[in-house]
Amino acid sequence: MEKIIIKGEKRLSGKITVSSAKNAVLPVIVAALLVEGKCRIHEVPLLADVETICDVLKELGVQTTFLPNHELEVDATMIVRCEAMDEFVRKMRASVLVMGPLLARIGRAKISMPGGCAIGARPIDLHLKGFEAMGVRISMDRGYIIAEAPQLHGAKVYLDYPSVGATENIIMAAALADGATVIENAAEEPEIVDLANFINNMGGRIRGAGTKVVKIEGVKSLAGGSYQVIPDRIEAGSYLAAAAITKGDLVLENVITDHLKPVIAKLKQMGCFLEDTEAGLHIAVDEPLKAVDLKTMPYPGFPTDMQAQFMALLTQAGGTSVVTETVFENRFMHAEELRRMGADIRINGLTAIVEGPNKLTGALVKASDLRAGAALIIAALGAEGETEIINTHFIDRGYDQLVEKLRSIGAHIKRSHDAG
Ligand code: UD1
Repeated sequence: MEKIIIKGEKRLSGKITVSSAKNAVLPVIVAALLVEGKCRIHEVPLLADVETICDVLKELGVQTTFLPNHELEVDATMIVRCEAMDEFVRKMRASVLVMGPLLARIGRAKISMPGGCAIGARPIDLHLKGFEAMGVRISMDRGYIIAEAPQLHGAKVYLDYPSVGATENIIMAAALADGATVIENAAEEPEIVDLANFINNMGGRIRGAGTKVVKIEGVKSLAGGSYQVIPDRIEAGSYLAAAAITKGDLVLENVITDHLKPVIAKLKQMGCFLEDTEAGLHIAVDEPLKAVDLKTMPYPGFPTDMQAQFMALLTQAGGTSVVTETVFENRFMHAEELRRMGADIRINGLTAIVEGPNKLTGALVKASDLRAGAALIIAALGAEGETEIINTHFIDRGYDQLVEKLRSIGAHIKRSHDAG
């Protein structure tokens, strides 16, 4: 069994380079399916999720090749199958994003029905509703969703909720559809803008990405090219929280501070010093942290993907913090593990009440999902003694070279494999 072992209470200081965004690179790799030719993606982070999405594409007959310098080449000139298998969808829900481009390129997609997962039911009804408006017939067969579109046409799609995945899937389907598509109440996340920029770079015609209304004019075909995705705002936010819990002094290179506005605002409210400098985003913490309330919301609100890490940090803030999760219905599983380390957290439905500061002490804890794992890393960095974190495969889904990066700024952290 693999573990990450951390000896806490070491002040983090120095400089880290933030990697490319997981949630931008996955849809961009998938969008390369739209292109009859080669796409090169630069600075691809070394993540388990990137490997999984490449495996999904390989199953479709698409060539994916890792080149030196973290470059990935995707050649989707030939697509020979249209199925995203159960094994992949179970491993990574973002596999459902192949539906849009498969419908656009070959008029058919078959994907395993995504079931419930650790952080909520996460249905894909909004994706399917969008496809249906564009002329897609949906049917079910033994746990698989079959989508067929002899004639994919542009349509007006209103999303009941600004789902990131539904917005991305519909944009990709619409990129090669006949006519114009308008998505209303679209998700506004920076990763949507990045996806649209990628498609536009390859010859697509998308306007309004990053606002509530996205317009896509279908084009006949897209040509190959190269692209580099945006920095990972969640990875950056996680390192800011890690610096804050150790009263550290850290500079993050390769950050778009605009994407981190709600996270920076909360850290400042807690008493952290943050400044955008030539060298990068600088955080320095020497005062006791203050309790704050936060509520997760779609972008530009506070990101749900930072909620767990902040809960870990708030255990060390003086006073009562109220954390409300509005995006996913079951995303407090880290609270119990944090309690094992000494945190005082009460859960009441979608709200967690964190009393602090309560001294954290090392323990054996278990990551229940990617960001819950990150929260345990942060708590361990601030805890007295040694913490062992198991289920590290969740953390490897989304943090590029986490152990190496943290070690380079002074953390006592290692991986260990034992037979236990
Ligand atoms: C993406 C991110 C994930 C992040 C989330 C919200 C990727 C690969 N993943 O996930 O890290 O936490 O955005 O910022 O980019 N919903 C429906 N029906 C649908 C689609 C979604 O009810 O058809 C619900 C979900 O169950 C959830 C909420 O909408 O409660 C948000 O989901 P969505 O924005 O779609 O998240 P993902 O794209 O899955």
